[in-house]
Amino acid sequence: MSIPEAARARAADLRTQIEHHNHLYYVLDAPEISDAQYDVLFRELEALEAAYPELGGPDSPTQRVGAPPLAQFDEVRHLSPMLSLANALDETQMRDFDRRVCEGLDVAAVDYVAETKLDGLAINLIYEHGLLVRAATRGDGTRGEDVTSNVRTVKAVPLRLRGAELPAMLEVRGEVYMTHAGLLELNKQQLAAGEKTFANPRNAAAGALRQLDSRITARRPLTIYCYGVGTIDGAELPPTQWEVLGWLRELGLRVSPLSERVSGIDGCIAYYQRLGQQRANLGYDIDGIVYKVDRRDYQATLGYVSRAPRWAVAYKFPPEEAQTTVLAIDVQVGRTGALTPVARLHPVHVGGVTVTNATLHNQDEIARKDIRVGDTVIVRRAGDVIPEVVRVLVEHRPADAVPYEMPTEVEDFEVARIIQAIAHFAGRRAMDIEGLGEKVIEQLVRIGKVTSAADLYRLDQADLVALERMGEKSAQNLLDAINRSRDTTFERVLFAIGIPDVGIATAANLARYFGGLDALSGATAEALAQVPDVGPIVAANIVEFFADDAQRKLLKGLRAGGVRWAEHAPQAAATDGPLSGLTFVLTGTLETMTRDLAGDRLKALGAKVAGSVSKKTSYVVVGAEAGSKADKAAELGVPVLDEAALIDLLAAPDAWRASKA
Ligand code: IVH
Repeated sequence: MSIPEAARARAADLRTQIEHHNHLYYVLDAPEISDAQYDVLFRELEALEAAYPELGGPDSPTQRVGAPPLAQFDEVRHLSPMLSLANALDETQMRDFDRRVCEGLDVAAVDYVAETKLDGLAINLIYEHGLLVRAATRGDGTRGEDVTSNVRTVKAVPLRLRGAELPAMLEVRGEVYMTHAGLLELNKQQLAAGEKTFANPRNAAAGALRQLDSRITARRPLTIYCYGVGTIDGAELPPTQWEVLGWLRELGLRVSPLSERVSGIDGCIAYYQRLGQQRANLGYDIDGIVYKVDRRDYQATLGYVSRAPRWAVAYKFPPEEAQTTVLAIDVQVGRTGALTPVARLHPVHVGGVTVTNATLHNQDEIARKDIRVGDTVIVRRAGDVIPEVVRVLVEHRPADAVPYEMPTEVEDFEVARIIQAIAHFAGRRAMDIEGLGEKVIEQLVRIGKVTSAADLYRLDQADLVALERMGEKSAQNLLDAINRSRDTTFERVLFAIGIPDVGIATAANLARYFGGLDALSGATAEALAQVPDVGPIVAANIVEFFADDAQRKLLKGLRAGGVRWAEHAPQAAATDGPLSGLTFVLTGTLETMTRDLAGDRLKALGAKVAGSVSKKTSYVVVGAEAGSKADKAAELGVPVLDEAALIDLLAAPDAWRASKA
């Protein structure tokens, strides 16, 4: 059957347009038409080729959907061997490389081309007169596997090179890889289809490239960056690597935009540091920077040693993945009560730091990866990202390892509640235990040392030193702070124990009115409602609180733990007390107690405590390094008390008041 000329011309035109848009989209990442517009062109070409099968050729853009499965891959011999690279693992080794290059060339310094070292699979592409005829894996460097059908499905690999003067034969070297976004999407599809997911982009790319059924490869999001040339026939390569990259780009091949020509070793180091910072945000994995002497005549002079060029080196980044073991799985409670399981790891160096913990996200993630205590795992830390357990090496699993179950929600909620309650108890306006933050409380609760605030008063040095990030000095400081909090006021205790709706002001009123714990805990709702600030709801809360066995136990426990406060007889009026009618101002640093505590005690005795000195001030209590308030007192003739006088006053307020009368 003869093909109408119009159909032939239209098909050629469509192929040119589609190739142009493929190049813009897959190679330059700069599409000019919408996906829908592209699909219209593509379908028209498909229809023409279906009507006239002779129109379709192996280089048609429609021929990227994959071919029938192979029984096996054929072995192919590369025209030029695919070499490997020497590694530099630190700056010294990198400087040594540069020194050897300069000595070998007898020059002071050279230019290099810096290229990202992609973490994918090396591929060899053979173009004859511009047409892709074969693609092979690296294999042992001399022989690889023929993966032409698979690579033809990779849209970023041109089936036909661009330009008028194409070499008769060209071997192009590049790296096939998968982006992070590609892997995520693929894993989503795999999950939906009930298939296995891939642990990292490299494994996913390798799996895709080694499919015997290229129709599967076609559905995997592979792409490529090209970085070099093997054998070339019928054309001359330009004189520098930098120009080789430019030429490859002109041929329509995908070349990394991150490559740069740099000057000397300092240029290399600066590039390395810059890319090291960008690494986590590239959207694909690189494991180092490849430096190549730019001038090809220099490359020829330097030559090769044991299958690696003397003119190139791979300066590796610290590995982002490492192997270690799971020592324990803990659950962390966030500020909002959210629970996050965390793997405690045998310390391992990864991503440039020592990692001892990794987030496990949630129970579903743990179950999906089947992470167990005792497992050998791969951990990953990319950039500043929180370290993660990527996968378990099941072959190393101890025989007695059991699937992990996070504590049930009820238990977790309870833990979170206890932490919040103790954090409140230790707060500055409450018992004022400095250094007892949520992190410390959480650990104490998790290990079962503390189940209520009363347990704080049973802790010893050994309990605290056992905690994470707790040295002997911090442990002693915390013990001292706990000890100081034993000597307190009734109103602080009332606030600290966390009766619902009882804030600091209500606690102060209750303390003043009832004077002591027995009177308060025995009070009826009606009696409670007599207190300023206390309405029927708060009154009911208080009654309920003291009826609760757990709360009675807490108060008993506090007393047994040595927490003590002064009590007095119940009073009719909240303002009554031995210091009624007096106003105090506190200034400077006191040695035996904080100013807050001194103020509370004065108030508990009926005094007012003010913030600034005026003619109405009865006394100014002056501690060390007092400033303008002491001056003001002198100026206004307000009497001043030092700390010793304050202590006398607090010890015997009635006698003190009498002595002043
Ligand atoms: S050049 C003559 N350049 O690294 C030098 N290799 O260890 C041969 N690779 O098998 C390699 N990015 O898979 C070169 N920009 C790059 C590269 C690169 C990644 C891989 C490639 C090769 C391995 C060498």
